[in-house]
Amino acid sequence: MIISIIAAVDERGGIGRENRLPWHLSDDLKHFRRLTMGHHVLMGRKTYQSSAGKMPGRKLIVLSRDPKFAAEDAHVVSSFDEGVEFARTAGEQELFVIGGAQVFAQALPVAQRFYLTQVHADAKADVHFPTYDRAEWKELERNEFSAGPKNDHAFSIIHLERVNTAP
Ligand SMILES: NC(=O)c1ccc[n+]([C@@H]2O[C@H](COP(=O)([O-])OP(=O)(O)OC[C@H]3O[C@@H](n4cnc5c(N)ncnc54)[C@H](OP(=O)(O)O)[C@@H]3O)[C@@H](O)[C@H]2O)c1
Repeated sequence: MIISIIAAVDERGGIGRENRLPWHLSDDLKHFRRLTMGHHVLMGRKTYQSSAGKMPGRKLIVLSRDPKFAAEDAHVVSSFDEGVEFARTAGEQELFVIGGAQVFAQALPVAQRFYLTQVHADAKADVHFPTYDRAEWKELERNEFSAGPKNDHAFSIIHLERVNTAP
């Protein structure tokens, strides 16, 4: 099973503000929907609560340390590895880790693919993508989008794959 990260990150590494996305990017939402449809998606409890009901057709796995936390439309797990194993056991081919910052940090060492939306703006975020070594990732594809009525900012969708570091 491939583990993929999918994230939209601004020029200062920002990904969220006040537990929401700090922008509306219609073309990026379409890209997110197309890639993740039908797949398991793994997320933190805060991201789940901020995106409630917005991901039909995806199999939701939510991370929480709170044993009382329950979600009607999601499978709740208490560790990152448990979430990965749940998807693997269900026969998933590509698990998408969809955030937020805490969960991206746990996925970075083990992800093979990284679908990065680079947002060309400073969204004054209060949550940031973890630092990572860009040299560990090679660019396979890049598509540019302009700002306009449907997209608050210009952005690039960049498909990255981990460089094979095996000797
Ligand atoms: N731009 C993007 O691509 C993007 C994507 C997703 C989210 N976001 C934004 O990111 C922000 C939320 O990110 P965040 O980092 O604050 O929160 P988060 O990662 O969504 O959720 C954090 C919560 O997940 C649970 N958790 C994390 N690691 C765990 C582990 N190893 N085991 C068990 N539970 C674990 C904990 O829940 P409990 O507290 O219940 O224990 C923790 O408080 C929002 O602003 C959202 O809009 C942006």
